[in-house]
Amino acid sequence: MRSRLRSVAAAAAFCLLAPVAAAGCSAGASQDDKVVRVYSGRHYGSETAFDRFGKETGIKVQYLFGSDADLRERLKTEGDDTLADVYLTVDVANLALAANSDLLRPLETPKLDEAIPAAYRDSQDRWIGLAIRARSIIYNPDKVNPSDLSTYAALGDQKWRGRICLRNSTATYTQSLVASLIAHEGYDGAKKIVQSWVANRPNFINSDKEIVLTVGAGGCDVAIVNHYYLVQELTKNPNLKVKMFWADQAGRGSHVNLSGAGVTKFADDPELAQRFIEWLATDGQQIFISTSQEFPANPTVQPTAETKALGEFKADEIEAAKIGDLNADSIRLMDEVGYK
Ligand SMILES: [Fe+2]
Repeated sequence: MRSRLRSVAAAAAFCLLAPVAAAGCSAGASQDDKVVRVYSGRHYGSETAFDRFGKETGIKVQYLFGSDADLRERLKTEGDDTLADVYLTVDVANLALAANSDLLRPLETPKLDEAIPAAYRDSQDRWIGLAIRARSIIYNPDKVNPSDLSTYAALGDQKWRGRICLRNSTATYTQSLVASLIAHEGYDGAKKIVQSWVANRPNFINSDKEIVLTVGAGGCDVAIVNHYYLVQELTKNPNLKVKMFWADQAGRGSHVNLSGAGVTKFADDPELAQRFIEWLATDGQQIFISTSQEFPANPTVQPTAETKALGEFKADEIEAAKIGDLNADSIRLMDEVGYK
C-alpha cells in the first residue's frame, strides 16, 4: 500500500500521465477529497453517472477512458502501483479476461446479490454485470420481410448470399455471440453455423454504428448488431430504414451480453470501489443505462422509452460467465472457418 501523500500526488496527474489511446479523463481532487479511480473501457456517456455519484455521495470519481485491452495491459504493467480502484468495461469477454489475468479481487456480495440476478455475475464474484446489451438481427424493411427471419443460424441460408453485414472477428461482440453458439450447439455445431455465414460472403464492417447506417442506406439487407446502436441511430433519425428482429424467439432467445465492473486487485480503497459499484447497480442504475440505451441489469429499473420501443423479447438465459470462458474457443473457431 502506498502512502496517502504519494497516492494523491500521483492522482493529480491521473489524466496528464495517461498515454492510453482515445483516453478521456476527469478533473483532479484535493488532498481532503475521497476519490474512487476508474479505468473504463465503457464509454456511452458513463461520465454522467460518475458525476452524479460524486454529487450524491461527495466521493469524487476520477476516470480514465481507453480500450479494454489497453486498460488491462496497463493494470498488468502497473501491478501494485496502479491508481485504479475499479475496472469498468463492456462485454463479458473483457470481464473474464481481466478476471482470468488475476487483475480483480472478489467483491463483497450481499448488496449486489440483492440487486443483480445470478446469471449476470461471475461465479467467483470477481466481476458483476451492471447493464445488458442484446446482440440481434436488424433488417431493412424495404428489402426484407421479417417473416423470412428466425435464428442466427438461419442467416446461413443461401437466400442471404451477398446480403449480410457482419462485425469482424476481432470485436469481442462477435466473439461472445459465437461463444454463445458454442455453448448451445457444441464446437462442431457452432462451426457449421459460422461456416454457413462465411459461405454467404458477408460484408465485414468493424463498427456496429456503421453497420446500422449501411443497412439503412440499402448496402446490406440484414445484419447483426448490439441493440443500442440501432436505438441511438433511430433517435437521431426516426425515418431510418432499419428495424430490429429479435433472433431465436422460438428457441433459446436472443444473445445478451453485459457491461460490468470489478474492484482491481491492488485497489488502494477497495471499500470505496465496492460502494461505487453498488451504487451503479442500485441508485445509479437508471442514469448508468440511460445514456447508453442498454437494458438495466437490476430488474427493478426500467429501460428508457427509446429502448422499450424495440419491443419485448426473450433473452438467452445462459450464464454470462460461460460465454466469457469460451472466448478463446470462439476466436479459434472463427479463424478455422476464415471468418474475417
Ligand atoms: Fe458498443
